[in-house]
Amino acid sequence: MLDEKVDSLRIYVLAEDFAGYSSLFWAQHGVSFLLEMEIEGEKKHLLFDTASYSEPILHNLKLLKKNIGEVDYIVISHNHYDHTGGLPGIMKEINKEISIFAHPEIFKVSFSVDPFFRYIGPPKNLREDVEKYGGIWILSREPIYIAPGVFTLGEILDGEREDWEKSKTHVVMVKDGRKVEDRMNDEIGLAVLTSKGLVVIGGCSHPGIVSMAKKAMKLAEVDKVYAVIGGFHLVNADEKRIENTVNAFREIGVEHIYTGHCTGLNAECEFKKQLGDKFHKLHAGMIIDLA
Ligand SMILES: [Fe+2]
Ligand SMILES: [Fe+2]
Repeated sequence: MLDEKVDSLRIYVLAEDFAGYSSLFWAQHGVSFLLEMEIEGEKKHLLFDTASYSEPILHNLKLLKKNIGEVDYIVISHNHYDHTGGLPGIMKEINKEISIFAHPEIFKVSFSVDPFFRYIGPPKNLREDVEKYGGIWILSREPIYIAPGVFTLGEILDGEREDWEKSKTHVVMVKDGRKVEDRMNDEIGLAVLTSKGLVVIGGCSHPGIVSMAKKAMKLAEVDKVYAVIGGFHLVNADEKRIENTVNAFREIGVEHIYTGHCTGLNAECEFKKQLGDKFHKLHAGMIIDLA
C-alpha cells in the first residue's frame, strides 16, 4: 500500500509519567507526543494524545521551544482520561480549525472497578469543548491515511489480536444499560513509514503492542518494525506475556523500544536485560530522532 515515506521524523515527548533525572520538564500521568515530520518538502506537526492535563504539556513545549500553534493534526489513541484530559486546554491554545482523529467510541463512559469504582473516561463535554475551539472530529473504526507515510491503525478487535495479548481488561463500561467488560476496542494506534523503517506508536496499547505492530506491518505491507513507542500496558502482565512480547519484538526486527507510562517496571527491566541498548526509557522532554 505505502511506498510513500516521510523524509524525516523527530518526536518530542511532551508528557510522560517520568520527568527524567535532574529535569526541568514536568511529569504527569499519561503520554503526549509531538511528531515533527518533513513530508514532500513540507514540515508537518502531529500531536498524538494529550495526557491528563494541558498545563504541563504547555510548560514542556516552552522548554522545547516548540509552538502549539504549529500543530496540523491531532490523533487521540483512546478514551482514557490520561490521554484525553489535556485536549480541551490544548484546543483552547490552538484555537483554529483542526482535524482530530479518533475512534467513534472515544466519548464512552468507562471505569475501573478494582479495588473500587473509579471513573477513567474522558472529561465531561469533551466533544463540545473541543468543537468550540475549532476541533473537527474524524471518528473512524477503519485506518485513516493522514499524509504520505502517516496513517492510523483503526480498531484492532480480538480476532486480530495475538492470543496471549487477549487478557481480561479489568475495565468496565456500560452498554445498553448493562455493565460489560471494556475490550478497549477504541484504541487506534499511529504508524509512520520512514526511510529507516516502520515506526508504531501506541497510547496504552490496550489491544497489545505486538498486535498493533502486526496490524501496522500489514497495512504498510512490510515485514519489519523499526521502532515501537508509547505505553504498552504490561503493568499487570505475567512473566509469560512479557517474555512473549520480547520474543515477538525480536521476530519482527524491532531496533528501538521507547517506552514508559503503563509499561511497568517488570517489563521495562526485562526489555533492558533481554534487548540491551534497544530499550530506551521515555521521559518528559525527551527528543527522539528516528529518520
Ligand atoms: Fe494510559
Ligand atoms: Fe488506557
